[in-house]
Amino acid sequence: MRTMILLGIATFLGAADLSQVIESPDATAILKKDALLAPKIAVMIEGCISSDPAVIARGKYLFHNLNGKDTKEPAPEGLVKILPNGKEKQYGNCVACHNIEGAQGYGNIGPDLSNYKGFFMDSGARTSQFVYQKIADARVDNPKTHMTINLTNGLFSEREVCDLTSYIVSKK
Ligand code: HEC
Repeated sequence: MRTMILLGIATFLGAADLSQVIESPDATAILKKDALLAPKIAVMIEGCISSDPAVIARGKYLFHNLNGKDTKEPAPEGLVKILPNGKEKQYGNCVACHNIEGAQGYGNIGPDLSNYKGFFMDSGARTSQFVYQKIADARVDNPKTHMTINLTNGLFSEREVCDLTSYIVSKK
């Protein structure tokens, strides 16, 4: 009896065309699509660094938040929580790796960016262009960086990288 059933299934399977059952997407195409673009040098746009409180507020918001759905405070002027296509806006979530003034539950994978102005800018150790490039694409000065890439892959606009840079180099 059992043999009969097994034979029956085998006959059924033998008759069916199974060539389309197993999905075989082109893995090379998928890998190419997901691959990171090559490291890219990014130069600050005209008027990039600003001490305008509206600019600093946007930079701060981008730094401390993960995405539009996660944040409870309203987005500052010039930033949205939900994009026109209905998707939530992705922010920087820089606090996942960096401490900075007012950070809550920060990670320590990246250096502490507290008092950045005093320690790194006023001392001449860093320039705004260095900070801008770091945020835009950190691989340019450190090919093995663990930092996220933000401009080369289109996550942020140039203006948003300027907002973040302005916030980091500002006096807090
Ligand atoms: C996954 C961890 C990680 C995240 C997320 C991250 N960083 Fe970094 N960051 C690093 C590490 C590690 C370094 C040390 C240098 C390097 O690897 O390039 C660094 C370096 C920096 C520096 C240079 C500090 C200096 O003067 O040497 C700045 C500025 C900076 N990050 C800003 C940001 C901003 C802004 C964000 C959010 C958009 C961010 N980082 C997100 C890990 C991270």
